[in-house]
Parts: sequence; structure tokens; C-alpha cells
Amino acid sequence: MKIGIGNDHAAVEMKMQIKEFMEGLGHEVVNYGVDTPESCDYPEIGERVGNAVASGEVDCAVLICGTGVGISIAANKVNGVRAAVCSDTTTAHLVKEHNNANIIAFGARIVGIETAKDIVKTYLEAEFMGGRHERRVAMISDIEKKNSSK
Ligand code: RB5
Repeated sequence: MKIGIGNDHAAVEMKMQIKEFMEGLGHEVVNYGVDTPESCDYPEIGERVGNAVASGEVDCAVLICGTGVGISIAANKVNGVRAAVCSDTTTAHLVKEHNNANIIAFGARIVGIETAKDIVKTYLEAEFMGGRHERRVAMISDIEKKNSSK
């Protein structure tokens, strides 16, 4: 798969390790994040990665900031993005199976690198279950449509 990765200054080291990890799994990884520890604004990175996913430039993406929260909130403002914060592997497979999440996010200040790798691998191996979940994901898209003209 072609996978985007984005991070702010709180997650430079973890981004590099996760990028290398995903490449080791055979994926092509596109880096949209920062590579230096100077303070930056996570909404810009979230929006950039959200647009890359929504436009199909990448198949899915991983976002990392201090908590995973701010950067995922920003990405979720882009139509078509379903970014989910995951701090454990159960959440990581369920957000794909039930919510068809196209971005996962986690916090470099919250999870350790081994947990982060497990989360990423679990998410990438999971598949959307469809069925009743398809209808609910469509309902989320409807909310976007209803609010995009406001
Ligand atoms: C940066 O200090 C921090 O606020 C950011 O990485 C993130 O945790 C925001 O949600």
C-alpha cells in the first residue's frame, strides 16, 4: 500500500521509526511531517495528510503528535477523512473493521514505540467488515454533506 505519515515536533523520532517499520512491511511511505524538533503547528500537518488521503494520493495514513488528538481533529475536518486515535491494538483493528478509518493517530507522549508498531501492523492487516457498518459509515458522510454548505 501507499501510506502517508505525518507528525509534529513532538513525534519526530517516533515518525522515523514507524516509517521505517512500515517500509519493512513492504509498504511505500510518503512523509508529510516535520523532521526537526522546532515547534510547529499540528493542524497544518493534519490538514495536509487529510487532503492526501481524501484525494487518493495515498491509500491511508498514520498521524502522530503528542497525544494523537489535535492532529486527528484537524484531519477529520477534511471531507472524507475518518481519523481515529488508537492507543491499543483492539481499537486499531476495530476502527478499520467497523468505522473504515482511513487514518489512525496516536501520541508519541502516550504510547511506546513497540505498542505503536503493534497498533500500525494490526490496523494495516484489518479489513472493513461492511454490512451494517457500511450504512453507519454512510451516515457519517451524510453529516459531512449536510454541514459542508454552512
Ligand atoms: C504539542 O506540544 C502538542 O500540543 C501536540 O503535539 C499535540 O499533543 C496536540 O494535540
